[in-house]
Amino acid sequence: MIPSDSCPPPARQGACVWFTGLSGAGKSTTAEALTAFLQERGCQVTLLDGDAARARLSGDLGFSREDRDANVLRIGRAASEVVWDGGVAVCATISPYARTRETVRHMIGAHRFVEVYVNTPLEVCEARDPKGLYARARRGEIADFTGIDDPYETPACPDVELETALHSAQDNALTVLEALRARGLVG
Ligand code: ADX
Repeated sequence: MIPSDSCPPPARQGACVWFTGLSGAGKSTTAEALTAFLQERGCQVTLLDGDAARARLSGDLGFSREDRDANVLRIGRAASEVVWDGGVAVCATISPYARTRETVRHMIGAHRFVEVYVNTPLEVCEARDPKGLYARARRGEIADFTGIDDPYETPACPDVELETALHSAQDNALTVLEALRARGLVG
């Protein structure tokens, strides 16, 4: 038998930061800034960001309720692997439905899950419209667009709430980092 002190178990310090919010809210920009801060601190970080994660994991899925749920659960599953391995998964996806976000929270483990609501009003997202998708949705060229003709269920009790209209992505990323530190999820 191997003495327990000769082979300590690996530290299971993983965590999942889950950014949710409307398209154009600033999830990706803030997630990228947080990823950089965490990497500077020596954390092993995996960024699972909306469009790229969709392309990699959910190329077969569209934007029906069922497809969004499947997409969000696949990202949650990938994140849970990262967390189990002791890394930090930073996820940025609209994830519009509260029940599905709760499923992911439990999949990962509530004590390691940090839900970050990127609270940018629809008017602001629509004015930014970086991909021109809101304009297309308003013209009826895209159906089931979140915030226009598909619901976004606001988190009732997020771990962190950010306002991108008032604070920079860097400042918001620092707020999330502080929340992670306060919960003892990063050093
Ligand atoms: S989610 O609802 O399944 O979580 P996800 O974050 O992966 O969505 O993808 C959202 C991105 O897909 C948006 O930022 C936007 O660029 C694009 N998109 C294309 N069609 C839609 C749509 N109907 N609703 C929302 N976003 C859409």
